Amino acid sequence: MAISIRLETPADYRAVEELTKRAFWNVNTLGCKEHYVLHLLREDDAFIPELSLVAEDFGSVVGHIAASRAMVEDQEGKPHEVLCIGPLSVDPVAQGAGVGSDLMKRCLELAAEMGFCGAFLFGDPRYYTRFGFRPAERYGVCDSEGAFAVALMGIPLTENGLKDIRGRFVESSCFSNVADEAYAEFDSDFPQFQRGYRKSQSDFAVLSTLRYFG
Ligand SMILES: CC(C)(COP(=O)(O)OP(=O)(O)OC[C@H]1O[C@@H](n2cnc3c(N)ncnc32)[C@H](O)[C@@H]1OP(=O)(O)O)[C@@H](O)C(=O)NCCC(=O)NCCS
Repeated sequence: MAISIRLETPADYRAVEELTKRAFWNVNTLGCKEHYVLHLLREDDAFIPELSLVAEDFGSVVGHIAASRAMVEDQEGKPHEVLCIGPLSVDPVAQGAGVGSDLMKRCLELAAEMGFCGAFLFGDPRYYTRFGFRPAERYGVCDSEGAFAVALMGIPLTENGLKDIRGRFVESSCFSNVADEAYAEFDSDFPQFQRGYRKSQSDFAVLSTLRYFG
């Protein structure tokens, strides 16, 4: 593979959403909605086009990473801006070749250059710790419901960037406001795949309910 990373353009949107569906299909749940979440996110003020990157292999898009503005709200209700990373998708035919790693590293570099103090995401610690992400609990950051979720991880992007930021991580509502009917209409225009069980769904169910007691 000869991977190059570049900024996504509107001309990539459809191919990237199809890729996102292929990457996430049956991974975390039966089917997936991540391609619709990405579609909604692009329309949201929180979306950051300068951090929406595609990975190309000889001209074909094989991976994508998105990022959006989020906040950590402290005990006084004061918001501190941070970055939310995701979705991160690599075409199943290109997985395991370093594409996801290249996209993540470049996104973190650019985010640091843009001055973000830190980034957070929900994901599998077995993957994201390799980039320097650590449990958000370590930074005193819980999820929007006040729980120290194991899947919520953070990384400072400046020296001591997350030192004085403690509170609730609040991401764009696009990640949670996914109406079933609107999703079904959106997805009807995409290639259709069979829903089916994969072990990763059980892992996801466990991971997404695990909590630290901070
Ligand atoms: C997760 C994903 C982005 C990784 O991209 P990739 O290009 O395949 O990953 P890389 O080649 O950079 O890294 C491969 C390594 O990551 C590991 N890895 C990949 N996905 C993992 C996961 N969900 N949990 C733990 N480890 C994982 C591989 O085992 C491999 O480990 P090794 O380096 O020890 O051999 C990609 O597999 C993907 O799109 N998956 C489906 C969608 C998804 O789960 N996205 C992330 C949501 S949080």
